[in-house]
Amino acid sequence: MKEQIKKVLKEIEDFEILTEENLENFRKNFLSKKGAIGELLENFKKLEKEEKKIFGADLNSLKKQAEEKFGVKKDSLVSGQEEKNDLDLSLPGQRMPQGSRHPLSIVQNTMINIFKEMGFSLSVGPEIEDDWHNFSALNFPENHPARDMQDTFFIEKDISLRTHTSSVQVRVMEENEPPIRTISPGRVYRNEAISARSNSFFHQIEGLYIDKGVSFADLKQTLFHFVQRFFGEKTEVRFRPSYFPFTEPSAEMDIYLGTGTEEDYRLTKGTGWLEILGCGMVDVNVLENCGIDPKVFSGFAFGMGIERITMFQYGVKDIRTLFENDKRFLDQFKTLT
Ligand code: DAH
Repeated sequence: MKEQIKKVLKEIEDFEILTEENLENFRKNFLSKKGAIGELLENFKKLEKEEKKIFGADLNSLKKQAEEKFGVKKDSLVSGQEEKNDLDLSLPGQRMPQGSRHPLSIVQNTMINIFKEMGFSLSVGPEIEDDWHNFSALNFPENHPARDMQDTFFIEKDISLRTHTSSVQVRVMEENEPPIRTISPGRVYRNEAISARSNSFFHQIEGLYIDKGVSFADLKQTLFHFVQRFFGEKTEVRFRPSYFPFTEPSAEMDIYLGTGTEEDYRLTKGTGWLEILGCGMVDVNVLENCGIDPKVFSGFAFGMGIERITMFQYGVKDIRTLFENDKRFLDQFKTLT
């Protein structure tokens, strides 16, 4: 009996189980009634009481071992199959969620590209600015209301968050010799009550063109070309006289919506004309402040708000929507670039 148990134990240990068929054969050979262990049990029954005592435990542990091996192999075969099922190489890949550009970026990039076509370069300046670049060099008188605490976020006495991108004009003129043709997009800050129409920060694009013999006609033609490219060829524009400390003469430019819709009425207070930018010939004092000889050079500048145009383009009714980062809003711009 002892020899038989040993033999079967060795057979159990040596039996290779790689497939389900192997597993079934293992069960038949060892665990079924007619298998090797069943046979041993039958023989065991015939033994004397004393002998039963000797071999009972061995036989039990043999059975346990066979059952254990069967269980372990069965589990691994089943889980192996599950893994195989998980890995269906014919399935399409998982799509990565696609992001979208912010509507302000879409509008800003479109504007930049139009001016680039006309030979304008891109320049940027700091958002924390000193009094000289934000105000003094731009010919703001010492007591000008724009310097007031009401409009400007001061950091310390002569340092503030820039209130307009015109500060970049100054930096570009100080650092470069004419001819200069540049646009400067960026974020600006004003200490204003937040409402559907105004926010404490927003974005502008500044334009600057300095060369010999630059005239107001060049300014008009440049902006007219921009409007045609951006809003469409048939868009009408008008210039209204205005005042800015850093330009002389100064103007504001409107485009004609004239669609007679409620939207048009809301934006233009019933006139049909939407103001989109301020502009003018760079003041002689500004040129001098920036080290450019006004007897040799002249130039024009303009500054345009990006939010208002974006709101008009996409029918956004509340400026705050642009800064809430609500995915439901932003997802609507997925197909645009
Ligand atoms: N800086 C002005 C503003 O923030 C806009 C502006 C007007 C810019 C006339 C200019 C300009 O360059 O010539 O309202």
